[in-house]
Amino acid sequence: MKKKLIAGNWKMNGSLVVNEILVKALVAGNGQGTCLVAVCVPGPYLAQVQQLVAGKGIDVGAQDVSSHEVGAFTGEVSAVMLRDFGVRYCLVGHSERRQYHGETDAVVAAKAQRALAAGITPIVCVGETLAEREAGLTEEVVKRQLAAVIHANGHCISEVVVAYEPVWAIGTGKTASAAQAQQVHSVLRSQLRAATPQADRIHILYGGSMNAANAAELLAQTDIDGGLVGGAALKSAEFLSIIAAAQ
Ligand code: PGA
Repeated sequence: MKKKLIAGNWKMNGSLVVNEILVKALVAGNGQGTCLVAVCVPGPYLAQVQQLVAGKGIDVGAQDVSSHEVGAFTGEVSAVMLRDFGVRYCLVGHSERRQYHGETDAVVAAKAQRALAAGITPIVCVGETLAEREAGLTEEVVKRQLAAVIHANGHCISEVVVAYEPVWAIGTGKTASAAQAQQVHSVLRSQLRAATPQADRIHILYGGSMNAANAAELLAQTDIDGGLVGGAALKSAEFLSIIAAAQ
């Protein structure tokens, strides 16, 4: 069985002082660890966090990457630059990027491609809004979002991580029930199986108000291979409990 992956998404939170306290507590509490652990941190702190976790069983992730390779794209950061800082994972297509920065399925697919080409594992986020769920469009939406990435990446799709994050569950304290999450994860797994014989080794993470109290039940589902954790990743004790639930 593959190891579960618990990835923290700090979003736009942190400072040099706060990060050091948080990461040192994670390193101390993580122990040997039979699951994979990563923290996706704001760009300016990649070097700091990389130094704190080096050789300690925790990987560093970025929260976004440019869809371009190099050149006149002011403010953008390329996948190769992230690689220079030891970045192992990169979120792409987080719903906050889709919503506030107009990222389309095509842009998300291109970002995943750039990450893969630089040897970084993209964590491709998909998920429906509340209106889409209520209109019965959940499967159609997540399949469309994932299809764009499959189409652009061909057989390399076996190298991505997928994160199912219902938008209505992000930062709201409303978690999808374990059954609701499993249902969507099984749809995504089938779609991946149609695209690659390696689909069963792809991690499909659940994200959206995952916390110490609900993690064990979510992580026990057949097609839930880990978690993408926002708010609860900013509190060391809470994040360590989620990691423990994954072991
Ligand atoms: P949340 O965020 O755990 O705070 O809901 C998850 C995410 O946005 O990745």
